[in-house]
Amino acid sequence: MALLELADVRASYGPVQVLESVSLSVPEGGAVGILGANGAGKTTTLRAISGTVRTRGTITFDGRSIRGLGPDRVAALGIAHVPEGRGTLMQLTVRENLRVGAYVRKDRKGIAADIDYCLDLFPQLHSRISSSAAALSGGEQQMLAVGRAFMARPRLLLLDEASLGLAPSTAKSVYDAIGRLRKESGIAMLIVEQNANLAFRLIDSATVLEMGRNALSGTSDELKGMDEIRRAYLGG
Ligand SMILES: Nc1ncnc2c1ncn2[C@@H]1O[C@H](COP(=O)(O)OP(=O)(O)O)[C@@H](O)[C@H]1O
Ligand SMILES: [Mg+2]
Repeated sequence: MALLELADVRASYGPVQVLESVSLSVPEGGAVGILGANGAGKTTTLRAISGTVRTRGTITFDGRSIRGLGPDRVAALGIAHVPEGRGTLMQLTVRENLRVGAYVRKDRKGIAADIDYCLDLFPQLHSRISSSAAALSGGEQQMLAVGRAFMARPRLLLLDEASLGLAPSTAKSVYDAIGRLRKESGIAMLIVEQNANLAFRLIDSATVLEMGRNALSGTSDELKGMDEIRRAYLGG
């Protein structure tokens, strides 16, 4: 049984339906990508899962329906969302942001150990631990956003365009750290990424969305072998 399953999910903003029918599944510990052009519905698909947009269809997590639950309840079940734009709390320090990620936890020693783990994963944050998040570079803010999501000890991480606006070398180091996190934690991941070359370093399979529908799905190797994927997403 998949950890997360979406079947024929539709979503609307007010009267405007933007997801027509999206289906996908993420196995326990797996990493699945969502590719697609701007406006295809990638972000809305993540919002449908985390409970921040109105949906129809079927969304199950760990065998139970989560469709219609609010974002707090979805988070409490073990789904952490790193949104587009990162959601960093700028007026707080790096350490405070990490602690906010752990707000549902009571294990003080575990929280302290996981803050240390985040600093090991993202060494650049080490010297910034007491700085305000507003003073961080874009790359450091993205690292902090991933670290904050990890602090909740989720079973599934939703990651939206982690490379957006970052220099290529920074984006690569963010993805290298996410890959290490996946290996070491076993957290399942659903990854929206425009930069398919980066995404394919991490994901096992992907679906391509077009106008709110699945246009293509397959394993990473299958997709990388398709001419239309190479032309549209891999620069050749
Ligand atoms: N808050 C919103 N209100 C109305 N329409 C929106 C809103 N957010 C996104 N949309 C529209 O929904 C469609 C899908 O957007 P989105 O899921 O953000 O796409 P993607 O992440 O693939 O670029 C687009 O046409 C976009 O303009
Ligand atoms: Mg988006």
